[in-house]
Amino acid sequence: MFKKQNHLCRCLAAALLFVAAPTAGFAADVVTSPDGSIKVTIGVKDGRPYYTVNHNDKVVVNTSYLGFRLSDAPFDNDFRITSKSRNTKHGTWTQPWGEDRVVDCHYNELRVNLQQKDRLRRQLSLVFRVFNDGLGFRYEFPRQKNLGDFQIMEEKTQITMPVDAEAWTEPTNRTRYYEALWTKAPLSTKDTVSTPITIEVGDSLFMVLHEANLTDYASLNYTPRHLPGAAVTLVAALTPWSNGVKVYATAPFVSPWRTITITKTPGELITSKLMLNLNEPCKIADTSWITTGKYVGIWWEMHMRDYTWSQGPNHGATTYNAKRYIDFAARHHMKGVLVEGWNYGWDGDWTKDGDKFSFTNAYPDYDLEGLQRYALDRGVSLVAHNETGGAASNYENQLDSAFSLYRRLGIKVIKTGYVNPLMDDKEDQHSQYGIRHYRKVLETAAKYHIMVINHEPAMPSGLCRTWPNLMSGEGMRGQEYNAWSSDGGNPPYHVCVLPFTRGLAGAMDFTPGIFDFTNKAQPGTRPQTTVTKQLAEYILLYSPWQMAADKIENYEGHPAFSFIETVPTNFEKTVVLDAKIGSFLTIARKDRYSDDWYVGSATDENPRDITVNFSFLDKDNQYVAEVFSDGPGADYRTNPYPISYERILVKSNDSLKIHLAPSGGAVIRIKYAR
Ligand code: NOJ
Repeated sequence: MFKKQNHLCRCLAAALLFVAAPTAGFAADVVTSPDGSIKVTIGVKDGRPYYTVNHNDKVVVNTSYLGFRLSDAPFDNDFRITSKSRNTKHGTWTQPWGEDRVVDCHYNELRVNLQQKDRLRRQLSLVFRVFNDGLGFRYEFPRQKNLGDFQIMEEKTQITMPVDAEAWTEPTNRTRYYEALWTKAPLSTKDTVSTPITIEVGDSLFMVLHEANLTDYASLNYTPRHLPGAAVTLVAALTPWSNGVKVYATAPFVSPWRTITITKTPGELITSKLMLNLNEPCKIADTSWITTGKYVGIWWEMHMRDYTWSQGPNHGATTYNAKRYIDFAARHHMKGVLVEGWNYGWDGDWTKDGDKFSFTNAYPDYDLEGLQRYALDRGVSLVAHNETGGAASNYENQLDSAFSLYRRLGIKVIKTGYVNPLMDDKEDQHSQYGIRHYRKVLETAAKYHIMVINHEPAMPSGLCRTWPNLMSGEGMRGQEYNAWSSDGGNPPYHVCVLPFTRGLAGAMDFTPGIFDFTNKAQPGTRPQTTVTKQLAEYILLYSPWQMAADKIENYEGHPAFSFIETVPTNFEKTVVLDAKIGSFLTIARKDRYSDDWYVGSATDENPRDITVNFSFLDKDNQYVAEVFSDGPGADYRTNPYPISYERILVKSNDSLKIHLAPSGGAVIRIKYAR
C-alpha cells in the first residue's frame, strides 16, 4: 500500500511538472545590466506584453505596454510567451572618427518570443539589451505564414514615468527641420515631442529617450498621456506618410531600437555610447578615405544678404570669390571650401521648385573643374553643396551622375540640404519616405567614397557607426539663426542645452566661429554670445567637419583665429568636467593624433567662475596651456569682443580658475611639453 502511495505521489508530481512547464514560459522574466544597476522585467499581462525598469532598486519606468495596431488587426494583445533566450556580449570596437576612439560594448540580452492566441497565430519577438548606462529594445517580426506585407498604423510603445519629471524637449508639431528651441518643463505639460527627450528625474538621475538604427521606418516622437496609475505615460507617435500609414513592412522585419539612457550625471549622457552600440558594425570595408577636418565657405555672406545664391550682380559663387577662399584655406590649414549657389537651380523660388536643381551643371561664372584643380594643388578641396529644395526624386535621379563627377574631380565631402519640410511636395522629411531617401543618398555616397554633411536631416540615430561617411548634420537651430532670426538669434542658454539634447543623437554641423557681430541686413540679430564662447563651440558642439563660419576677412589677423586653426576634429577621448544642463558645461577632449588636450567651457546669460581641474592629464607630464577667456568688460549684450590670452605651465595636479562673462566662454589649448 505504502509503495503504491509512493508511486501515486511520483505520478502526481510528474503530472504537476508537466503542467507547470508550459506555465513557466508565461512568467515575467528579468534581465539586468552587466553591473547589476539596471533591472528590466519583461512579461505579458492579460495578453499584453509589457516591461518595467529599475535603476538601483528604484522604479524608473513603471509597467509600460508594447505592441502595434496593424491595418488589419490589433497587434498589442492576445499574446502568450512561447519561448525566451539570452545572450551576453562584451567587447570593444574602434570609431574611425568621433569623440572617443575606442568604444566599450557590454550588454545582457533577453529575447522574448510571443504568439497571438487567435486563429492566425501571428508572432512577434521583443529583444531587450541592457547596458550599464541604459537599455534598448526592439520589435522583430519573424517570417511567418499569416504576416507577409503589412502596414503599421500605430506603434503603441509606452514609457511610463513614475514621476512627472522636468524634460528638455522640442515639439514635433509645427516644428520644421527639428529647428525649435529646446524648453524645459514637466513632461505632462507637453504636446507631442520629438526624440531625443532629456529628462531630469532628479539631481542624480538623468534619462534620455531616443532611438537607434532608424532604418526603413518612421521617426519616433512621443505623446505624453495621463493613464491611470502613472504620473505620465509617453506613447510612441511615429511620423506618418501623407495617407496616415506609419510604416510599410514585409516580414521578416525589425523596428529601430527604442533607447532609454540612464545616468547619474549629465556628463555621462554625453559620453554614453549606448546608441552607437545598438547600431550595426561598419559596412564600409576600407574607411581610409573617410577623414575629418575644417572648412570655410561662401556662406555667411549669403545669410547676411551681401551675396545671393542665385545669379545676378551679387552672385556669391564666382570663380574669383572661390579662389580667395581656397587661398585662405590653404594658408590656414583648412581642408575644405564650401561654396553655396554654384549650380543651376537657385534662380526663382528654389524652396518650392527644387526639381530645377542640377547637381552637375555649374553657373557660367563658376569654373567647377578649374577651381577644384586649383584647390587640390594647394592641399584643399571644394565641399559640394547639394541643396535639393526638398525635391528628393530629382536628387535621387542625379545621385549617380553627380557623385561620379565629384569622385572624378576629387570632391570628397558634400553638404546636402532640404529646405522644404515636405519631400517631393508630399511626404514629411521624417516619415518612412524621408528616411528611405536619406539612406539612399548615404549608401550611394559611400559607393562613390563621398562623406555627407546633412542639413535638414533625419534626426541622427547612430547610423554613423554603420555608415561612417555620415559625418555631421543640422537638425537644430544652428548659427544661421544668428543671421536672420526675428527673435534676435539663439538665446544664451542654447549652446548649454544642445550637447545634452540634439548632440546626443549625433554630430552637429552648428557652424561656429562668428567673430564679427555686425548685421546690416537684420540689425539686432547676432550671436547672443561673446567671441570666446564662439571658440568654445568647437569643443562643446562636436562635429568631425567643423566650419569656420565667418567671412574670411573677419579672420585675417585675428589673434583668436589660431585656436580655430589648430583645434582638432577627431578625438581620442572625451571627459565632461562639469555641467548643468542649460546653464553651463566644461568638456576636455584629447586629440586623436597627439598628446594634446583641448578644453571648452560655456555659460548661459549668467556670468560664472569655473575651476578647471587638470586631473585628466597624464601624471608626471608637463604641459603648456594657452587660455583664451573673456576679457575685461566682456558681456554678450554690450561688449562681446574682449579676449584675454594667457600661457601657463600645468600638470595633472593643478587647477585653474577662469571667469566666464554673461553668455561667455573659454578654451584652453594644452600642449604636451616634452
Ligand atoms: C539651410 C541650411 O541650413 C543653410 O546652411 C544653407 O545655407 C541654406 N539652407 C541654403 O541651402
